[in-house]
Amino acid sequence: MKKFKNKKLSHSSKLWITRQNNDPLVELAKKQNYRSRAVFKLIEIDKKLKLIKNNLNIVDLGSAPGSWSQYSSKINKNGINLALDILPMKSISNCKFLNGDFTNEITQFELMKILNGGKADLVLSDIAENSTGNKNLDSMRSNLISLTVLEFALKNLKKNGKILIKTFSGVGQQDLVQKVKTSFQKHLFIKPSASRKDSKELYLYCEL
Ligand SMILES: C[S@@+](CC[C@H](N)C(=O)[O-])C[C@H]1O[C@@H](n2cnc3c(N)ncnc32)[C@H](O)[C@@H]1O
Repeated sequence: MKKFKNKKLSHSSKLWITRQNNDPLVELAKKQNYRSRAVFKLIEIDKKLKLIKNNLNIVDLGSAPGSWSQYSSKINKNGINLALDILPMKSISNCKFLNGDFTNEITQFELMKILNGGKADLVLSDIAENSTGNKNLDSMRSNLISLTVLEFALKNLKKNGKILIKTFSGVGQQDLVQKVKTSFQKHLFIKPSASRKDSKELYLYCEL
């Protein structure tokens, strides 16, 4: 294993870089011109659920650096691909990008304005809060955002619309399940193999 040595960096940063340098999916993503290994999670889920198709209105929340949008914009050639992140994102052909904080209601309003009053067929959310180092707190904060995403989807999805959303096992996940059970016809949790084993992340898929 290639270890990363740099005295100025914190222990956790060094661990992160060492892991990235030794991860075959990071290498594969580079070879296939994807901006992140995260794309393999979406590809795996898409193979199973056939979510991404042409002629859809797709909203990708927490999109940066952009691999999910790269993948979906290639398939959804004639539909609308709309991406949002609190961080800037390099442009992607056939994809509109809004730079903003999803938790801000004005940003959510701006986002839907771009769909010209239309609704979404599919909402993807890979939003993750920066880690605080406290796993319970991290799960709680991220699941709280996921709850906001669910509420947003309930207002802005078309009939039969779908949502794929990142959640974390632990604090707050039960609140999500409760919301989903009362509002969606069908739901299931998926842990794609590209998701790291030591990560608490789990994707929640729901159909209206
Ligand atoms: C795991 S990354 C997403 C990776 C992305 N799916 C890809 O394929 O490149 C999570 C993203 O969520 C974004 N994020 C976190 N909080 C956010 C918020 N409140 N509003 C919008 N984006 C947010 C982060 O900036 C980060 O880019």
